[in-house]
Amino acid sequence: MKIKKQKNLIYKCSSCGHEEPKWLGRCPECGEWNTLTETAQKKQQQTEIRSAAAAPLPLAAVDPMEGSRIGSGIGELDRVLGGGIMKRSSILVGGEPGIGKSTLLLQIAAAAMTKGRVLYVSGEESAGQLRLRADRLGLNADKNVMERIEILCTGNIDEIEAVLNNVNPVLVLIDSAQTLFSNDAGTVSGTVNQMKFCSFELISWVKEHDAALFLTAHVTKEGIISGPKTLEHMVDTVLYFEQNDKTSGLNGAVDCRFLRAAKNRFGSVDEIGIFSMGEKGLSPIEDTGKMFLVQRTDSTNGMLPPGVAIAAVLEGSRTILVEIQALTIPAKGAMSRVFSDKIDSSRVSRISAALEKHLGRQNPSGQSLRLSDQDLYVNVAGGIRITEVGVELALAFALYSARTGFSLPANLAIAGELSLTGEIRPIHRISGRVKTAANLGFNKFLGPVCDQSLPGLTSAKDIISAIKIFFSN
Ligand code: TYD
Ligand code: MG
Repeated sequence: MKIKKQKNLIYKCSSCGHEEPKWLGRCPECGEWNTLTETAQKKQQQTEIRSAAAAPLPLAAVDPMEGSRIGSGIGELDRVLGGGIMKRSSILVGGEPGIGKSTLLLQIAAAAMTKGRVLYVSGEESAGQLRLRADRLGLNADKNVMERIEILCTGNIDEIEAVLNNVNPVLVLIDSAQTLFSNDAGTVSGTVNQMKFCSFELISWVKEHDAALFLTAHVTKEGIISGPKTLEHMVDTVLYFEQNDKTSGLNGAVDCRFLRAAKNRFGSVDEIGIFSMGEKGLSPIEDTGKMFLVQRTDSTNGMLPPGVAIAAVLEGSRTILVEIQALTIPAKGAMSRVFSDKIDSSRVSRISAALEKHLGRQNPSGQSLRLSDQDLYVNVAGGIRITEVGVELALAFALYSARTGFSLPANLAIAGELSLTGEIRPIHRISGRVKTAANLGFNKFLGPVCDQSLPGLTSAKDIISAIKIFFSN
């Protein structure tokens, strides 16, 4: 006899809250045995409620939510968010422990341009610790701010929801998603399901109450939000906090942190926010054009050391100038290797292959250029990761200069994409790059052929002619 499956029956793990459509001896999520039990009501109830309320709406009748952004009071954060905090949205801030997530949240709580109440929920720190941090940030100087921010130290979602309904805040800050737990989502706290369940409750709450939500999450060394990658799908915006390489002793910009959007339903993901962590917490660095350059007092005749080239690259809407450093040494093993964390090493391999192929015999040093028998080391001063394609020509120049020992003028900035055929391809916003570079004292610029004539710009159509122009003295 065939057993008919009862409609709307699900099997829920009593240990982690995982749901399965059919009974299993072992929960596939947490691995516990004999924990799946039949559950029916909740799903049924939900469907009934949903089907009663469901009705389509003409797009024209939908409120466009104009003017529904709240300034965060932190320019660099607004830039990354696409112009402020969108009401009813949820924003996940991921980063390694100690990067400054809690500090950022407290600073948002203090600076956000909202008249409503702000609720800061911490499952990680005590109220006393939060007060100490607030004092350190100098928030106690403003009585209104100290009154406005309300603190709740718990991870229990039922308590949080009760307080939310009482206080009705316009801004909710949760530190962190990993400390949230609910008795409804299984008996073991701290599981992925607990976090998903609780975060979903909060995301729904802010949507229904015209508020906005920030949630922090710890990130593992591999850069994935520990366990719940799923959280990324639930929120509207995912921001990652990264840190530069502190060992790279830059002038005055040693400790800077970058806020990047990995997902943004209300803006682009190209923008980055740049902060430095100081005595008084995170402060935005707006004038970033020159901060990644190395100041050299002993520059010889206005020339850079061999192996160095300055690239003018785009980071979102702004141009920054970065110093690309390359070093080549004869390969230690049978295979040559590429060591590069700040520029993708496959890009370095591709550029060095193109260089070797096209400059084999035609380079000004007169000898054939070999890179394939060398170990290649590439670094970006200031430790910022560069993914923009316009860096390729400068990278090629740095490699060439490192290999041959010829150096480049210190007032030359470079931008261009290099194709496998050795041609220099056009790039976005060349005039903005040339202008920013000129403002910072780089009055020579090497770039692709373009239809505008820009002061200081030398155009080259391929890598051979570019190298001849700048290295043939
Ligand atoms: P924190 O916000 O606690 O990081 P997270 O929540 O991401 O774990 O801040 C971490 C570091 O920042 C900590 O090592 C101390 C430092 N810090 C400052 O340098 N200045 C400050 O004003 C504050 C509040 C923190
Ligand atoms: Mg913290």
